[in-house]
Amino acid sequence: MTFSRQQPYNDLPLLPPRKSYYETVDILKKLKEARVALAELKGRLPIIPNPEMLINTLVLQEAKDSSEIENVLKTSDKMYRAFTANKSNIDPSTKEVLCYRQALWSAFESAPKTDFNWIIEIFQKITQKNESVRTKQVYVGNAYDIIYTPPKPERVNQQLNNWLEFFHSSDEIDPLIKMAILHYQFEAIHPFSDGNGRTGRILNVLYLTEKNLIELPVLYISKHILEYKNEYYSLLSRVTENQNWQAWILFVLEAIYRTSLFTLEKVNAIYELFNEVKNEIRDKAKDIYSRELIEILFSQIYCKNRILVDQKIASRNTASKYLNKLVDMNILSMQKEGKEILYLNKQLYEIVAR
Ligand SMILES: Nc1ncnc2c1ncn2[C@@H]1O[C@H](COP(=O)(O)OP(=O)(O)OP(=O)(O)O)[C@@H](O)[C@H]1O
Ligand SMILES: [Mg+2]
Repeated sequence: MTFSRQQPYNDLPLLPPRKSYYETVDILKKLKEARVALAELKGRLPIIPNPEMLINTLVLQEAKDSSEIENVLKTSDKMYRAFTANKSNIDPSTKEVLCYRQALWSAFESAPKTDFNWIIEIFQKITQKNESVRTKQVYVGNAYDIIYTPPKPERVNQQLNNWLEFFHSSDEIDPLIKMAILHYQFEAIHPFSDGNGRTGRILNVLYLTEKNLIELPVLYISKHILEYKNEYYSLLSRVTENQNWQAWILFVLEAIYRTSLFTLEKVNAIYELFNEVKNEIRDKAKDIYSRELIEILFSQIYCKNRILVDQKIASRNTASKYLNKLVDMNILSMQKEGKEILYLNKQLYEIVAR
C-alpha cells in the first residue's frame, strides 16, 4: 500500500520496531553521551535542598515552553506571578501553563498505571476537556498542508494497548531509545482530539522517572523540541514514510543530552545562589535568618506574606518586616499584583528564565 499524508495511517506498525533500525554505531555513540549527561544531572539533583523548588521553577518553565509551541504565553514573569498570587481571573494562556504543571506533577505522583486512564487524566488536565480518546478523524497540519493523518479512531484502542505494553515491558532496549520510540508512536497514534504533543512530552519525562534515570520530572526536553520544531516534525514524518528510526532517535538522544547539560547548569546556578543568599542573610540579618526562610525564598520565584505565615516562619506582623528587610538588602523586589504584594527573587528569576 502506498502511504499518503492525507489518508489515515491505519497500517501504523505495532511496537517494537525491528532492531536493525536502531542498533547502529551512531546511535550507540550518541546514547553514551546522553546517558552520561543524564546521570550527571541525576547525581546532582539531591544538592537542591527542597525538590519543590525545582518543580515550581523549572517545571513551570517547561510548561511555558511547551505551551509556547502554540504561542500562548510570552512572559515567564506573568506565569510566576499567577502561580504565587491568589488570582481569580487568570487569563487562558497562563491557566494553560498552570494546568500543564499540575498535569505533570499529579501524573508523576501517581506513577504510571497499567491501564490507559492515567494518560487520559494527563490529557484532560492539560486541555481542560472532559473527553476520552478521540472518536473522530484528526490530522496534523492545516487543511491546506496536511502533514500527517493518524489511524482511524477504531484503531486507537488497539494501538494504545500495544503502546502501553511496550511502555511497561522489560526488554533489552535501552530506556532512552525506548523513550524515543514511545514518543514517535504516541504522536503517530495521536490518541486525542488535541493536546497530543503536550501529553506526549509529559510522558517522555515520566518514562525517565519511571525507569529511575532521574528522580524528579525536571528534564527540560520541550525546550529543545521548541527550538528545533521543524526538524522535530519532519523527523517524525521520516519514521512514518521511510522507517528512518535512526535520524529520529539521534535527534531525541541529542535533545536529552543537551537538556541534561542545560538543566545541570541551572541546578548548579540555583545552588550557588542559594548559598550566597543564605550566607548574606546569616551575616547581615541575623535576626531574621533561618534555613527554612531561605528555602521558602527559593521554593517559588515570588514570595508573599501568607507563605511565611503558613510555613510558620513569622507571624502576620513580622512577615512583612522580614520581607521588607530582604527588599532593603536587594535580595527581593516588591511588586503589586492586584490587591496583593508579591516579592520577586530577582536573581533566581534570572537563572530560571534565561
Ligand atoms: N509527521 C508527524 N507524525 C506524527 N505526529 C506528528 C507529526 N508532526 C507533528 N506531530 C505531532 O503532533 C503534535 C501536535 O498535535 P496536537 O495539536 O494534538 O498537540 P498539542 O499539544 O495541541 O500541540 P503542540 O505539540 O503544538 O503543543 C506535535 O507536537 C507533534 O508531536
Ligand atoms: Mg493542538
